[in-house]
Amino acid sequence: GDSAVTTDVVVVGSGPAGASAALLLATLGVGTIMITKYRWTANTPRAHITNQRAMEVFRDLGVEAQVLADATDHSLVGDTVFCTSITGEEIGRIHTWGTRPDREADYRLASPCLTVDIPQTYLEPILVRNAAQRGAQTRFSSEYLSHTQDADGVTVRVLDRLTGHEYSIRAKYLIGADGARSKVAADIGLPYEGAMDIAGSMNITFKADISRYVAHRPSVLYWVVQPGSNVGGIGAGLVRMVRPWNEWLIVWGYDIAGEPPVVDEAAAVQIVRNLLGAPDLEVEITGTSLWGNNEMYATRLQQGRVFCAGDAVHRHPPSNGLGSNTSVQDAYNLAWKIAAVLKGHAGPGLLETYTAERAPVAARIVKRANKSSREFVDIFEALGVLGAPDEAAMTAAIEERKANTPAGAAKRAALVRAMELKNYEFNAHGVELGQHYTSTAVVSDGSELPTPARDADLYYEMSTVPGAHLPHAWVGDSAHRHALMDLAPYDRWTLLTGIAGEAWEQAAEKVGDELGVPLKTVVIGPGREVTDLYYDWAKLREIDESGVLLVRPDKHIAWRAMELPENPEDQLRAALLSVLGRD
Ligand code: FDA
Repeated sequence: GDSAVTTDVVVVGSGPAGASAALLLATLGVGTIMITKYRWTANTPRAHITNQRAMEVFRDLGVEAQVLADATDHSLVGDTVFCTSITGEEIGRIHTWGTRPDREADYRLASPCLTVDIPQTYLEPILVRNAAQRGAQTRFSSEYLSHTQDADGVTVRVLDRLTGHEYSIRAKYLIGADGARSKVAADIGLPYEGAMDIAGSMNITFKADISRYVAHRPSVLYWVVQPGSNVGGIGAGLVRMVRPWNEWLIVWGYDIAGEPPVVDEAAAVQIVRNLLGAPDLEVEITGTSLWGNNEMYATRLQQGRVFCAGDAVHRHPPSNGLGSNTSVQDAYNLAWKIAAVLKGHAGPGLLETYTAERAPVAARIVKRANKSSREFVDIFEALGVLGAPDEAAMTAAIEERKANTPAGAAKRAALVRAMELKNYEFNAHGVELGQHYTSTAVVSDGSELPTPARDADLYYEMSTVPGAHLPHAWVGDSAHRHALMDLAPYDRWTLLTGIAGEAWEQAAEKVGDELGVPLKTVVIGPGREVTDLYYDWAKLREIDESGVLLVRPDKHIAWRAMELPENPEDQLRAALLSVLGRD
């Protein structure tokens, strides 16, 4: 056979999951070859919503400013509109993605980052560019064909689609981030729950400056309830902003059981003009594509040295905007673990925590997104358009909400409730941020997550119970302000304590040296590296000032001590050995 190219990790795919994995691994100095089937990254805008946790990953990687430079700002994402056409009547608005003043407080208190909107056509090149700059090999027009694995590594068979040449790459690990039709996942036989292609969607991208209809109610989503429109059988077309306010994407449903529709230029222009309610509008159609809506998640994400991430393991509709975000976060969970094992910091058992921690997230987001998609029906029910036999009946039903009649009043009341329910799609802060991990990479201190005081899908509650994500607080000094997460970067473990816990510093130095693990202590308090600028951290940390939080590279709490024990070194050593799978 041929002599194989060698590396540490092969990543298949350059979507949000694969490009993030390549960037994260390269940042950690892990040898990485990213192969991807096509000649470049995504050729259609696809997912856009980039939530706080994904932005935190980009912040941690030092690419947040690049993402923000290409994103539509938070201030422009929020006035989700329901209407009969863009120029027609408005049925109502919802403040979305944490833009309602009271909800924006929740979002701002929980993270240094806010939700923004960036199409995949802009995001993926940023990730790939930085991955390449940091040392990843990126191979386009390169198709994963198959692999074999043994005790020492994985041999990946690759087709160079330009030359037709096949070759092998020998690596320690393989990450299949090859999307919803993942061949890697099929090859390792990952088990799934749910079904694929439960509804069909068609994307039509177009250019037209419609600022005058939308700029006063800035949003990424305009839902059009109109006779003939149909998304996944629910009766609304979506006019989705790609760039404000002259590039757009229409999402239109089709019957997946029938023949795939063929939409020519004239038909696409007609759909655009109908949804916009602008019969003479000059429209430039830039593309059409079909995609399936799925309700499927893997219950195991790994087989030996092979892992899958992103849509390969969770497939769901765009509702809640979780696809790209969860894909980025999968990679964030996995990359530091692979690096830790390759560098000898951790035992191979650490890799098994990837399934333990991320499979429950996959199940949760797939269920939530599908539930949100189905809950649209409440709006159509409230409007009374569901059973409408024809266009005239549908229009009359929508009109009835204006009537000074008992039926009109009932319709208005039903609309209030139906709109309220959509917060579970558009302001589901708990789903977006509330990931709590239970695995061997977390040492429980016997405490339980506090019972949520508010709805766990809508609201996120910060906690330092082991397994929870590090709470957000601003720290610094008279000249600098940092988010707490900035003090616990991805390339090391971090101990956070207060002045009364200074003894942890020595303990950490000793244990870090002894185990060969990068570990730094940050003492938070006046006159120290940083102080608790707003006195928020003291209220959030749940531990005594002398206690400690052991923060993993991915900002989840691995372990905590409520106060300084007599033998901090022993306790820290035991905790680290345990989470690293070395005991
Ligand atoms: P993703 O599918 O992005 O990437 C897979 C990668 O693997 C690609 O780079 C591909 O080239 C590569 N690949 C596949 N097979 C390979 C092989 N054998 N060898 C080498 N490389 C291979 N979501 C949303 O929220 N809103 C939306 O409007 C849309 N719209 C949309 C449209 C279309 C057309 C698609 C395909 C998807 C969407 N989505 C979406 C879903 C969203 O795009 C999705 O959740 C994320 O892209 C998932 O990221 P991944 O990196 O996991 O896979």
